[in-house]
Amino acid sequence: MRHSTIRQLEVFEAIARLNSFTRAAEELFLTQPTVSMQIKKLTDDIGLPLFEQVGKKIYLTDAGKELYQTCQGIFEHFSRFEMAVSNMKGLKSGKLRLAVVTTAKYFTPRLLGTFCQQYPGIDVSLKVTNRERVLERLTGNQDDLFILGQVPESIDAVSEVFLDNPLVVLAAADHPLADQKNISIDRICEESFIMREPGSGTRMATERFFNDHNKKLKVRMELGSNEAIKQALVGRLGIAVLSRHTLALDGPMGQLAELDVEGFPIERHWYFAYPSGKQLSVVAQAFLEYLRHADDFLEDLSCRHAISGHCPLLKNG
Ligand code: PGA
Repeated sequence: MRHSTIRQLEVFEAIARLNSFTRAAEELFLTQPTVSMQIKKLTDDIGLPLFEQVGKKIYLTDAGKELYQTCQGIFEHFSRFEMAVSNMKGLKSGKLRLAVVTTAKYFTPRLLGTFCQQYPGIDVSLKVTNRERVLERLTGNQDDLFILGQVPESIDAVSEVFLDNPLVVLAAADHPLADQKNISIDRICEESFIMREPGSGTRMATERFFNDHNKKLKVRMELGSNEAIKQALVGRLGIAVLSRHTLALDGPMGQLAELDVEGFPIERHWYFAYPSGKQLSVVAQAFLEYLRHADDFLEDLSCRHAISGHCPLLKNG
């Protein structure tokens, strides 16, 4: 297999790990035909099939399993080499691979902005996906650092809280509940609800909250993006629980209102995490240190005073 390229191995590794050509194409920002073509070339070069398809599912053949193990070894060696080189160069250059949950995209790029101004030689890659997939990447040690809600105990990782993540009930600014105080959970359950997709941390926390109160929501629609949900709220399709961070950068005359609901905001937090035993590069350590002071850089972001009536982004504020 001397003619196989690292790119082909990357494509193969992603398919084997994610069990899906579609998801691998998505993760690598490639089209499906490109992914299939790379695998065809690799298979021709090896001379044995790497995957077999049963129904809609794909499985690794024995040759595929051997190659998957080999790839994991190769990529681990590469990343150790990259780290050694970047540590030799200190913070003058190097790579920082971050994977963050969808909702963290409202502040991570801003944090990166100031970090990169300080260290202009650093090359950053930022993967934004939902909680379930970030946890998969954390378990697979695929990035340098991860930003997400609390890491489940079943995952062997080091994690630390660095920022609050209040989850609030949002509705269109002219929603009949927008002007009411201390709305009961029962009243909220009468409204049509718009929910994030399965695998989202926001959804998980929302479901836990209503389950803990023995209440059932009337879910009218599931949407896989915070922005799409905000548009649906403005279109009066219902109400939703989202992170207050999703309101960052909205115009001053917000079209959304934060409802004053009993038990809200749900107090959630942002953590940075990495697999236990992982050797952090100098660059990753510098960013981690920087995250510990994230609060200072994001003064305006969390609208901490929204509840007491000072947030300019909200009708109630
Ligand atoms: P999500 O995660 O963007 O997948 O909903 C946010 C969170 O974990 O709070």
